[in-house]
Amino acid sequence: MVSNADKILVAGATGGVGQLVVAKLLAKDLNVRGLTRSKTKAESMFEGRVELVEGDIRYPDSLTNAVKDINYLICCTGTTAFPSLKWDFANLFQASNSPEAVDGEGVKNLVSAAPADLKRFVFVSSCGVLRKDSLPFNILNAFGVLDAKLVGEKAIAASNLPYTIIRPGRLIDGPYTSYDLNTVLRAKTDGKKAVIVARGDNLNGDTSRIDVANACVESLFYDTTINKDFSIVNEGERPSDVDWEKLFAQL
Ligand SMILES: NC(=O)c1ccc[n+]([C@@H]2O[C@H](COP(=O)([O-])OP(=O)(O)OC[C@H]3O[C@@H](n4cnc5c(N)ncnc54)[C@H](OP(=O)(O)O)[C@@H]3O)[C@@H](O)[C@H]2O)c1
Repeated sequence: MVSNADKILVAGATGGVGQLVVAKLLAKDLNVRGLTRSKTKAESMFEGRVELVEGDIRYPDSLTNAVKDINYLICCTGTTAFPSLKWDFANLFQASNSPEAVDGEGVKNLVSAAPADLKRFVFVSSCGVLRKDSLPFNILNAFGVLDAKLVGEKAIAASNLPYTIIRPGRLIDGPYTSYDLNTVLRAKTDGKKAVIVARGDNLNGDTSRIDVANACVESLFYDTTINKDFSIVNEGERPSDVDWEKLFAQL
């Protein structure tokens, strides 16, 4: 089980889910290192409370310092499913930060860079990776995001590293534009809907970023999530306390 003697790398620490993952790890007094493409941007976001290392998962050589002496890795990197400025277009036809580059090749690079004795590789993937030909996932996959996520998943599963693959539905809840750690820490973890998890890729619906982050962090505490892939959505009335141990025991 994870402890405060462990070092946890969060790739995509500046993203919506990533910020929440960092905040939850800090709230549990765990040691966090954030991987970011821009230390300046991340420093202002985390107010000096997180060790930050610059790196870009498209470039294996840039990952050496980030993965040094880590025990756990939570990967919440991603780009948009449809073309956007986040794809870093060099010209109309050439995008360098596309799903293929980030969710596929980039995740493969992280897997290769991870220490052989890593205790867990947690990966935020997506619902639909195994249903790419049916609605609405065939539309979501128009530019290959689900193909790329599956490439990433397969690299993780084939790596011999203990892993947990989390497949959320359409993400809801903030932080949307929050770049302030205190705001993130105040993010409500008691959303209105219950958490549903199921092994494989059979759920449909929306998923709160808060619960994706909860699942990433809580999974480190339960061996029932080792070498499992599961979907997660929010549905039905939320109990006063979400029992992650019980949820994960169903996997
Ligand atoms: N949106 C949805 O409905 C949906 C549904 C299912 C699954 N997902 C998945 O859920 C995850 C989290 O989503 P989100 O909304 O939190 O994402 P987000 O806010 O867009 O964050 C993406 C993160 O990835 C980082 N990143 C992008 N390209 C990178 C690169 N080349 N090297 C290193 N880091 C890079 C970004 O860092 P920078 O600060 O450097 O840009 C950012 O921290 C993603 O994997 C996404 O694919 C999303």
